[in-house]
Amino acid sequence: MEKLVIEGGKPLYGDVKISGAKNAALPLIAATLLVGGRHHLKNVPDLRDTRTILRLMETMGVVWQRNGDELIIDSSDLKSHEAPYEMVKTMRASVLVLGPLLARLGKAKISLPGGCAIGARPINYHLLGFEKLGVTCNLENGYVEAVIEGRMKGAVIYFDIPSVTATENLLTAAVLAEGTTTIKNAAREPEIGNLIDMLITMGARIEGRGTDKLVVEGVASLNPAQIAIIPDRIEAGTYLIAIAATGGKGKVTHCKPEHLPALLEKLRAAGIIVTENENEIEIDATHMQSEAGFKEVDITTMPYPGYATDLQAQFMALMTMSNGVSVVNETIFENRFMHVAELQRMGADIRINGSRASVKGRGINGLAGAPVMATDLRASSSLVIAGLAASGRTDISRIYHLERGYEFMVEKLRKLGASVWKEKE
Ligand code: EPU
Repeated sequence: MEKLVIEGGKPLYGDVKISGAKNAALPLIAATLLVGGRHHLKNVPDLRDTRTILRLMETMGVVWQRNGDELIIDSSDLKSHEAPYEMVKTMRASVLVLGPLLARLGKAKISLPGGCAIGARPINYHLLGFEKLGVTCNLENGYVEAVIEGRMKGAVIYFDIPSVTATENLLTAAVLAEGTTTIKNAAREPEIGNLIDMLITMGARIEGRGTDKLVVEGVASLNPAQIAIIPDRIEAGTYLIAIAATGGKGKVTHCKPEHLPALLEKLRAAGIIVTENENEIEIDATHMQSEAGFKEVDITTMPYPGYATDLQAQFMALMTMSNGVSVVNETIFENRFMHVAELQRMGADIRINGSRASVKGRGINGLAGAPVMATDLRASSSLVIAGLAASGRTDISRIYHLERGYEFMVEKLRKLGASVWKEKE
């Protein structure tokens, strides 16, 4: 196993180019199962998670090749409709093959994902939605076996809580169903907009893009896709916070500022200068070194366009360096404070009370490097941010978590002037 070593305390300066979004790439790759032929996806990040879903699709008979950031996927010959435990346990997003497999083959067998580091994360909304479309779902030996005779039938589906992957799974099923499907209280994340754009280029009929009510008019057949993956807003947000936390100045390029409405306002509230241009965001926190330091800012995670849970840990790392007390309220996942104990090892003063964490800032130079352990993807990136800002050396073990979602992280951080490298554990 490898660990990440950071010699911290250096302000980051320069530009960083954002890769394609992991959480858009996964549903869009899965959606190529909907119809045979050669699909062309551009701006696809080469990550542990994108490799995992491609490996899963290979076991189903899919053939693919990568040319730079383009993936050409041929799903003409499907020989399996199963997502085995070994795959689903390494990546829950494997459940995204359910909708396309049901739409194309009328059957799918998927290992039921268990809980994970950030919470229980059930898939009951997915299954209830499929049942509404006429699918029979049986749970046997840890697997969900879903079958339908003929085409699915359009229906009205309502989610108690807007779920990102349930919305995606049901959309990819409804596009080939007979009649109209309405998804109410649908999630509105930009990644869903990307999936809708892909499905429309394939011939699907969907209205309500960007809203919480999606209306899908089922069609009898689709064509192969040609689409680009949107920029990764969580990666962009992570670098913005990293530059800010070190009191640096830089530009995050090839991103969409409009996908980060909540974070940009929270950074401004902390006293950081943020300028939005077309496809790039400039950030300047150099005045923090000489002036009062970061102001304390509260955040509450919410479905999009609220503050993203995937940027909660990173903002908390920043708030450990503020000059006041801030409250972080996590409303999406019940166990998403795994980074707290690790940040405490670096000197952070954080108290957890249920879903709320109270963070007493120690000032911009308040953290000190320490050996810490990565527990999940976004928790790991908060440790990277803390390590970059802290004085001295931080060793982050289990960095395979980071590699699930951050493309070329070491190279990108080095380009910003960070002293960071990988070592064998
Ligand atoms: N929920 C249920 N039942 C369901 C589905 C969801 O109770 O059937 C609950 C969840 O337990 C959670 C809430 O609904 O409390 C919202 O979860 P959601 O379903 O939206 O999460 P997800 O689709 O499993 C995606 C991202 C996550 C991101 C969340 C929230 C992908 C592949 N994953 O997960 O990304 O945190 O939405 O925005 O898109 C990450 O990238 O690090 C990551 C965890």
